[in-house]
Parts: sequence; structure tokens; C-alpha cells
Amino acid sequence: MKLPESGVSPASVLDALERLRSHDARWRDGRTFSLVYYGGDELLTLLHDAYGKFFSENALNPMAFPSLRRMETDVLSMVAHLLGDGEAVGSMTTGGTESILLAVKTARDFAAATRGVTAPEMILPETVHPAFHKAAHYFGVRARVIPVGPDFRADVPAMAAAITENTVLLVGSAPSFPQGVVDPISEIAALASDRGLLCHVDACLGGMLLPFVRKLGRPLPPFDLSVPGVTSISCDLHKYGYCAKGASTVLYKTRALRRHQFVVYTDWSGGLYGSPSMAGTRAGGPIAAAWAAMHYLGEQGYLEMARRTLETTDALVAGIDAMPGCHVQGRPDMSVFGFTTEDADVYRVGDEMDARGWHLDRLQRPPALHMMITAAHAGLAPRILEDLAAAVEAARALGPATSGAAAMYGMMGSLPDRTMVREFVLDFMDGLDR
Ligand SMILES: Cc1ncc(COP(=O)(O)O)c(C=O)c1O
Repeated sequence: MKLPESGVSPASVLDALERLRSHDARWRDGRTFSLVYYGGDELLTLLHDAYGKFFSENALNPMAFPSLRRMETDVLSMVAHLLGDGEAVGSMTTGGTESILLAVKTARDFAAATRGVTAPEMILPETVHPAFHKAAHYFGVRARVIPVGPDFRADVPAMAAAITENTVLLVGSAPSFPQGVVDPISEIAALASDRGLLCHVDACLGGMLLPFVRKLGRPLPPFDLSVPGVTSISCDLHKYGYCAKGASTVLYKTRALRRHQFVVYTDWSGGLYGSPSMAGTRAGGPIAAAWAAMHYLGEQGYLEMARRTLETTDALVAGIDAMPGCHVQGRPDMSVFGFTTEDADVYRVGDEMDARGWHLDRLQRPPALHMMITAAHAGLAPRILEDLAAAVEAARALGPATSGAAAMYGMMGSLPDRTMVREFVLDFMDGLDR
């Protein structure tokens, strides 16, 4: 497509946009299990309005927009208080990936400055989000990946055994995406502090839910900045914070550590340049929307959403475990879990669920399906379970998939040569704009 010769009216542009979205996933009625966190229409309208008010403002220059600086400071402080250390400092970022990238860059630069490490390594349980591998790739930090235990939690003795003089960072998740379990953060952090290393907790997924899970009286292992030895934590607002997309936080125990996150260039003819995060221009909308959502919901609002989310999760976990041949993996700590099916091709079950309008993510190694439950799924457990039982039965009758998406996914997961799989994914991405 080329730029149109002349423009058209706003109304016809908006019409065209509506037509374009007609085949998009139906997140409003709880049909998706990741990607969108919907907290109801009143909150959505507030997010739109707050975002719109600060649509043009740019947080790159906090002197020009003291409003954004105030809001960012407030948001960070609210998250810091929720995550065990009201004195922690940090930055707002565009998402979990950026928060993780910054935490890894900070660890690399801290180790270079304080210990002269030139070939940095970090130790990652295999379940950590791929953003850590992206960071490894971008920043030249070697990722040492450690298999998790049978309970899908980080194997701390194996992490200890992988420490070398080049190690700069140990990582744990709260919780991990695939099975939704919280790693043994106290043990990982104690190990890090014994060896004089930094410890990052990836609470992108759980940071805005786990504090309320605990307030609801559920048992939870310690996971936040109150744990001795934890030096940084990432927490997304655009997930269980129910904020507008483009909002996450990364927090550090000390200002001295955060300084290694910043980038300053003093010799540019354009002037002195200091940037806290990966982005140059920083959109004001997500900051204002996050500030608005957190004030609108407050503790009670988040607590109520957490209660609904956990109720639905409990019903689904119990219902799946009660289905013959179906098992939830491990013991999920909040609202995210994987499950497998015996004697039915689990990816075929996924396709059958797609056909019934429920779009579940696929896990691999081992093959499984994934559910990420939010407040938007409240009340849907009976319908989901009914359709899942039918999907499992249909998949059983069909037998192992030999063609189509399920077969392809099964084959990709089991191929020992990961280079081929990588090429396949690259080809897929490359072909998307055709
Ligand atoms: C545990 C965990 N960390 C990090 C991320 C990355 O977040 P984002 O997609 O906002 O970059 C995710 C996303 O699902 C996640 O589940």
C-alpha cells in the first residue's frame, strides 16, 4: 500500500478501523487467556480518558512535564509499597520485556564497575520469560540455563553449581509463565547474597496480584523486595494491574544500583542527554492511565478482582484435575497454570478448544495447554470446563494429530535439532507481512 493521494474524513477512517478489527480475538467476553487484561467497562473508559489527556506529552523531559514526573514517582512508590520496600527506587517502562532488559543491563554494568567483569553471565531457571534471552542477546550476557525440578520450581543447588567468577545475576520468577509457580526466591536470594551477586525477581506476571493473594489469606512463599538478598524486581502494570498497555515497572533496592541503568551522553551537539530507560521519547499516556487505574481501583478494587480471579482459578484447577486423564502441572501459586491430557493429543485438544471459541496458549517440553485467568473470566468456569470435556473427548476420538496445526506444534516441540525450529519461526515471522 502507498500513502493515499488525499486524505479522508475521520469518520471513514474510524469505520475502516472497525472493519479491520472484525476478526480479532474476543477478549471482552473472556475468550482469550493472555494478551488482554480487562477490568470492566468503567475502568476501560477511565483508562482511555486518562491516556488521552496525556496522549501528546513526553516523559523524556521531566522538567517540561512535572505532571508526568509526579505520576511516575507516585506509581513507582505505590508498587514499591506493595512489593515489600517503600524506599525502593525505579523506573516505569513500556512493558515486562523492557523492565527485564534494564535489570540485566544494570547487573552487567554494576559487575563491570565494581568487579571488573568483562564476560558476564547470568543464571536462569529454564522457565524464565524469553525476555532474559533477549537481554542476553542484546547485551552480550551469557545465559546459563538450569533445568527446573519436578515441581517446575528453580533448582537452587543446580544454580549454585553454575556460578562462576563471571556470574553477575541470579534470577527467579514470581510466578513463572508456563506453570505459574513461584520460584524459591528466599533461597535464590540467600545464595546470591552469600556469593556477593545480584538477584532479580521477575514479578512481571505476579507483582500486581500476589500481594492481594496474600492479603486474601492464601499461603505464599516470600517473593518480593522484603526478602534479604533480592536486589531488583520487575512488575507489570499492564497485566494484573489492569492498566493500559505500555506500562511496567522495574525497582531496585538502592539508588546506587539504579544509576547503572541510566544512559548519559554529554558530548552531543544537540545538548546534554540523559535517558533512564530503553526508549528515547516516553509516551505520557501509559503513565497517566496507570496512575488513574491505581487510584480508581485502590486496595479494595484489586482485592476484589483478585478474589474473583482466584475463585475462577480454583474451580478450573479442580475441574480439570477431576477430568479423567487430565492433570494441572505442579501446584500453581496464583491464577496461571498449564495442564496436560493423557491419551488425547493435547494440541488437538487446543484446536478443539479454538473451534469452540476459547483460545488457549500452547506450552512445550512437555506439551501442555495454558490458562491465565483474570477478573474477566469470573463466572465462566462451568462453560469452559464443559467445552474442555467435550474437546478432550473429541481429541481422543480423533487420535494423534498427523496433519494441521496440532501435528505441526507437536513436531516442533519434539525435534531435537532446535536450529530447524528456529529457522521455521524465522520463516514464519518473515512471511507475516505478505
Ligand atoms: C513472567 C513474565 N515475565 C515477563 C513477561 C514479558 O512481559 P511483556 O510481554 O509485557 O514484555 C511476561 C509476559 O507474559 C511474563 O509472563
